[in-house]
Amino acid sequence: MRRITVVGAGFVGATCAQRLAESELAREVVLIDVVDGIPQGKALDQWQSGSIEGFDTRVTGSADYEAAEGSEIFIVTAGIARKPGMSRDDLLKINAGIVRSVSAEIARVAPESIIIVVSNPLDVMAYVAMKTTGFPRERVIGMAGVLDTARYRTFIAMELDVSVEDIQALVLGGHGDSMVPLVDYTTVSGIPIRQLLSEDRIDALIERTRNGGAEIVEYLKTGSAYYAPSSAAVQMAEAIAKDKRRILPCAAYLEGEYGQTGIFLGVPCKLGKGGLQEIIQVELTERERAELEKSAAAVRSSIAALG
Ligand code: NAI
Ligand code: 2OP
Repeated sequence: MRRITVVGAGFVGATCAQRLAESELAREVVLIDVVDGIPQGKALDQWQSGSIEGFDTRVTGSADYEAAEGSEIFIVTAGIARKPGMSRDDLLKINAGIVRSVSAEIARVAPESIIIVVSNPLDVMAYVAMKTTGFPRERVIGMAGVLDTARYRTFIAMELDVSVEDIQALVLGGHGDSMVPLVDYTTVSGIPIRQLLSEDRIDALIERTRNGGAEIVEYLKTGSAYYAPSSAAVQMAEAIAKDKRRILPCAAYLEGEYGQTGIFLGVPCKLGKGGLQEIIQVELTERERAELEKSAAAVRSSIAALG
């Protein structure tokens, strides 16, 4: 690829840019932020790490979207964090305004691009990006499921003291309290998790996964997670850039799949050339289906709150 752009040069965005540069997925990585100077400074610093890390990716920064012209992929991390006294709806409206303006610029300078949305609240911001750009659903995908699944897999690996590489799992639904980990599809080298852990222990790990983001905020106090989130976004970019056709849980715009229409929700997606190639429909238990519906209702009410 010629160019991948990351919008938002904060913790998640800057870490994405460094990971992209190190992986040499594109000849050029562009970092954009509304605060002039920050993207330029971080980009130059990252480019200089290339001589030590051994990459030739050109990393540049700008406050101007012309620098991102023709990018094949955008990772959107722009937004603000919730501040004391601010309601969820206040945050929703502010970040929707930011994602709307960022998306309009993307559509202007790179109308054929693919957008990976990271900004929160994720499922609603992906919706805003799609509605603003008018891009087809193949080219607007939200990152949450890869992160939530990574947390779930890590907790299982910790519990069983086995390699995380051998753990396969799927976490669907919205990003937040209403996410839906699928226990029937959780295996360790093909061994169903229920043969290795009691129902109580599985429930406890699911609960920890649901609170995975909050657990880190509690430690950091002034910010949220960014190492695993940036790994997750870059894994999605890699699947697209290399046409790997990976099956990853991502937020996709549903048109009838899983009984839902007109919202983004975390579902198993095939990612490759062109972005979202397919939504895979898997069988769910009654309980999982009900949880997914609850999750969808939460996303719908946030969209309604946008007005
Ligand atoms: P941060 O505050 O470190 O960075 C956000 C950056 O966005 C700042 O540099 C800010 O200047 C920039 N920004 C604000 N308005 C902008 C605009 N109009 N145009 C361009 N840039 C703009 O925050 P952090 O930790 O990097 O998180 C970024 C976002 O990602 C947050 O909304 C966070 O909640 C979300 N997030 C989502 C995850 C997910 O699983 N989907 C995981 C982790 C974070
Ligand atoms: C997380 O899950 C804050 O959404 C972010 O860490």
